[in-house]
Amino acid sequence: MVRAADLLYRALYRGLLSRLPERAAVPLGQWGLRRLPLDRLPIFRPEDPRLEVTLGGVRLPNPLILSSMYYDTAILHRAMGLGFGAVTTKSITPGPRPGHPHPNLVRIETTHGPGLVNCNGFSNPGLEAYRRALAGLPHRVPLIVSAAGESAEEYVHVVSGLEEFGDLVEINISSPNTRLVYEWSSRPAELKRVFEAARKATAKPLIVKVSPDYRQANEETIIPAALEAGIGIVNCGNTRRVEEPRLSQRAGGLSGPALFAATLENVRRLRQRFDNRLEIIATGGIDSPDKALQALSAGARACSYFTGFITRGPILARLILDALLAARK
Ligand SMILES: Cc1cc2nc3c(=O)[nH]c(=O)nc-3n(C[C@H](O)[C@H](O)[C@H](O)COP(=O)(O)O)c2cc1C
Repeated sequence: MVRAADLLYRALYRGLLSRLPERAAVPLGQWGLRRLPLDRLPIFRPEDPRLEVTLGGVRLPNPLILSSMYYDTAILHRAMGLGFGAVTTKSITPGPRPGHPHPNLVRIETTHGPGLVNCNGFSNPGLEAYRRALAGLPHRVPLIVSAAGESAEEYVHVVSGLEEFGDLVEINISSPNTRLVYEWSSRPAELKRVFEAARKATAKPLIVKVSPDYRQANEETIIPAALEAGIGIVNCGNTRRVEEPRLSQRAGGLSGPALFAATLENVRRLRQRFDNRLEIIATGGIDSPDKALQALSAGARACSYFTGFITRGPILARLILDALLAARK
């Protein structure tokens, strides 16, 4: 049954979703997620206590996290029943943002496999509207709320407003699609102030999501500053900034398997450098059971993905969880 679902999604992706223009494929995929009660199928929910992990002291039924991209609570609710141990909201900003104009997402074929480049630009309803939306979202698995801002004050505002609705709070300092957010990594001294302020704004476990484009700064200044401020979880990481003339902004964030080698290397280096003081979420290019196993064996506490959810479909979570269980035998 799992194998059949895998083959079926591969055929759907190859035959339809990857052929439609992105502007039609994205709403179609999201419509399907909202409307089709996939989460009622038992194949998506292998419950097994051997898969449980803790992240910042919060119990996750398994170490798979849906990475930040969706803010629609109907989709997040569905995703919570599709095998993930936690799901993440899109990064929310103080006010509503329309995001960048179309084209803001394109598919890309790399030598490593299919990926995406996006310049979404944080299209989101803004803090106040999103608080109302989150109030109606039951947590079938833990929810990670994600905050983005352009000043320490903005982060504090969003973290304080969202934290009651999340089990963990992620601070996004790394999306390459808005100049001011991406540039945080080149201002480590100011980041320290952001971390300290965010730490005071919530008692929930905090995650800092870093950029693969700033490896040295991450290791030498950003993560040490986070640890000093009392933030013990790092998500490595976000998309990598690339030029992409097809996008409205002529540049965007690359996601998918081309990121994986660097993700794995980052996990290894961070584990070695920060040992058990740091909990690591591996993100970037995980689109197969083997890659998830490699990231976890390299020292990640959890691994998360978004592009794999699109290219391999919801069944990928089940395939990874089966592989994790098989590896423990
Ligand atoms: C269309 C799109 C929108 C995204 N929006 C966010 C966001 O709001 N906040 C964030 O931290 N990451 C965002 N990401 C980055 C993903 O969460 C993830 O870190 C990145 O895609 C690398 O993982 P992957 O290779 O598994 O996709 C977005 C990615 C895509 C493709």
